[in-house]
Amino acid sequence: MKRTPIIAGNWKMNKTPDEAAAFIKELLPEIKDSKNELIAGVPFVCLPAALEAAKGSNLKIAAQNMHWKESGAYTGEVSGAMLKSMGVPYVIIGHSERREYFAETDETVNLKAKAALSYGITPIICCGETLEQREAGIMESWVSGQVKAALQDLTKEQVKTIVIAYEPIWAIGTGRTATNEQANEVCTIIRNVVKDLYDEETAEALRIQYGGSVNAANSADLFSMDNIDGGLVGGASLKVKDFSVIAGYEC
Ligand code: PGA
Repeated sequence: MKRTPIIAGNWKMNKTPDEAAAFIKELLPEIKDSKNELIAGVPFVCLPAALEAAKGSNLKIAAQNMHWKESGAYTGEVSGAMLKSMGVPYVIIGHSERREYFAETDETVNLKAKAALSYGITPIICCGETLEQREAGIMESWVSGQVKAALQDLTKEQVKTIVIAYEPIWAIGTGRTATNEQANEVCTIIRNVVKDLYDEETAEALRIQYGGSVNAANSADLFSMDNIDGGLVGGASLKVKDFSVIAGYEC
């Protein structure tokens, strides 16, 4: 089965709403011929401006987090119901920065993934190991465990629609990209976990991104690997030129 590559920018805590709108206006003509599914993951406050700027284009907008409850006394949080009401189609969940700095756990990742799906929002679920874990030889069991926990109670129909982003923590923002083989190896492990949990059809439908120092020079080689279906791009997604090269990847 041919999977459409999905390439998402993760802007992290960058750009004001005005900057977001200006950036997207500049980006759209550069990416209009891309055959890939394209996403910009923007800060909450940029969502209205980004949705408006991207309206009618081939760029979709993602939030970078959400709470799993619909509403309530959770100061500072944003719910899936709120994102849905704005027309946000994607949400990044369980990024390693959220796991590290904001106490995100496998359990909350699973709660958020289920909540997102219940609102018709597609989760991009992040996983990945630290350098210490890789060097200790526990990368495979760690990443498999993260994926199993994230997918708990999800139906195979749901799993076919979601996106998993494999992001080795040692490659994020470090300029130290995983080799094509390293990245593909773990994306293959993830696909096999999904095959064991569900079935081959589900595993083949699932899109798995690689993330971690993806740039305009290495993206095409990474994305051409068998089990890599695009990327989650941090730093390089903040530059129109770089992101448009990455977005223009042709299979
Ligand atoms: P990077 O970030 O491309 O800047 O390494 C990737 C990510 O954190 O999603």
